[in-house]
Amino acid sequence: MSLPPSQSAAMKASKGKLPISVITIVICSFAFLALLYADTSRSFFKLKSCPRRNAVKKSKGRTAEDDLKSLEMDDRFEFDPEECSVNTGKWMFNKSIKPLYTDRSCPYVERQISCAKNGRRDSDYLRWEWQPDDCTLPRFNPELALKKLTGKRLLFVGDSLQRGQWQSFVCLVEWIIPEDKKSLKQGRTHTVFRAKEYDATIEFYWAPFLIESNTDQHIIADPKKRILKVDSIEKHAKNWGGVDFLVFNTYVWWMSGLRLKTLWGSFANGEEGYVELDTPVAYKIALKTWANWIDSNINPNKTRVFFTTMSPTHTRSEDWNNKGGMKCFNETKPVLKKRYWGTGSDKRMMSVVSSIGKKMKVPVTFLNITQLSEYRIDAHASVYTENGGKLLTEEQKADPLHHADCIHWCLPGVPDTWNQIFLAYL
Ligand SMILES: *[C@@H]1O[C@H](CO)[C@@H](O)[C@H](O)[C@H]1NC(C)=O
Ligand SMILES: *[C@@H]1O[C@H](CO)[C@@H](O)[C@H](O)[C@H]1NC(C)=O
Ligand SMILES: *[C@@H]1O[C@H](CO)[C@@H](O)[C@H](O)[C@H]1NC(C)=O
Ligand SMILES: *[C@@H]1O[C@H](CO)[C@@H](O)[C@H](O)[C@H]1NC(C)=O
Repeated sequence: MSLPPSQSAAMKASKGKLPISVITIVICSFAFLALLYADTSRSFFKLKSCPRRNAVKKSKGRTAEDDLKSLEMDDRFEFDPEECSVNTGKWMFNKSIKPLYTDRSCPYVERQISCAKNGRRDSDYLRWEWQPDDCTLPRFNPELALKKLTGKRLLFVGDSLQRGQWQSFVCLVEWIIPEDKKSLKQGRTHTVFRAKEYDATIEFYWAPFLIESNTDQHIIADPKKRILKVDSIEKHAKNWGGVDFLVFNTYVWWMSGLRLKTLWGSFANGEEGYVELDTPVAYKIALKTWANWIDSNINPNKTRVFFTTMSPTHTRSEDWNNKGGMKCFNETKPVLKKRYWGTGSDKRMMSVVSSIGKKMKVPVTFLNITQLSEYRIDAHASVYTENGGKLLTEEQKADPLHHADCIHWCLPGVPDTWNQIFLAYL
């Protein structure tokens, strides 16, 4: 299906610049991939007292081996958002895992991230499961998901990364619905998947900055020409009413430069009156605008609000010590180093999100996917993507520095884990 215009022009715009500082490199890669859309996450909690002690008691009179077994088995309790953090954990390889869908079986995966269809041959990246340290995360159960959505609307709002999460969610559930009991209505900014028998919708609304900008609809390739209206959101937000579950994200579009052109209030000379602000400052004003809108328009008894934290980008192979590497190209295994954090996730931006979240009246559940996704250098679209509606040519594939997409994720893939976590919170 055709989805909002990709920003291949923007990618080209920044190609070739080889900046001096790390920050500049990161920023350039971002601009390079203006193609994309954004990210998600959530909070941590203290651990519940562990059932470990009971397990030991129960096992009296059994063999040492039994003891060991029960210790292993009872060590973790089933995920409970109040008790267990999804932030600390590890990716476990399990060769017998099969994703619930493929980019051929699910008609809703857009071409840009249909990696297998686009020629990706290795498949280990599909067989890793996120295992939190202190609990077990239930596998995604499509029946349960649809049950929770019965009679309800779920709306994902944000950028292309959020669109990936939306597609993942739809694909995870749609295969259990008969052909004539589901439909997709594609709009320019708002797309609705409907599961008729459940009277449920799973929707996506395109708003890459959440607030209004001059590049929402007709994407402006040159980040320098983009102007953000950091105190205006109504044009988008008027479409978010009456929804039961709202899931937001916004991050990667902000990372196109150290400073951004921003407008607020009513400037007599219109767009000419912009002011350049440091990116985290502009981000903060915009998120406050968003938070105010939520607090004054959302009834928390009717609507639950989620926010997916930054989706990491992997455009500097030095970050994970692959000196000869080219961005995420040719990576087939996650980084295994505990708490690995690269330069593609800006902690200042994360702290803006968490500090604003804490002050809101309406509770926001963060789907904190940043740390777990940081490890997954192997799971981006890389050269198995398209550019301007066409698959990369062999020549382009041979030039990963300019053409590999290390921002977006293949589907099936990492966004399925985000939704596994999301469902556990629902
Ligand atoms: C690996 O996945 C298979 C199939 O889903 C499952 O039966 C098995 O328990 C998993 N193994 C581990 C170690 O989690
Ligand atoms: C939500 O429900 C609680 C308890 O029923 C009630 O006290 C509160 O006023 C409600 N809030 C809104 C915004 O309706
Ligand atoms: C990609 O990785 C494979 C296996 O590790 C290696 O043989 C190949 O040369 C790599 N390709 C490039 C272009 O680096
Ligand atoms: C998400 O988790 C990271 C640690 O991985 C933490 O630093 C950050 O504050 C969390 N973000 C939010 C919004 O809770």
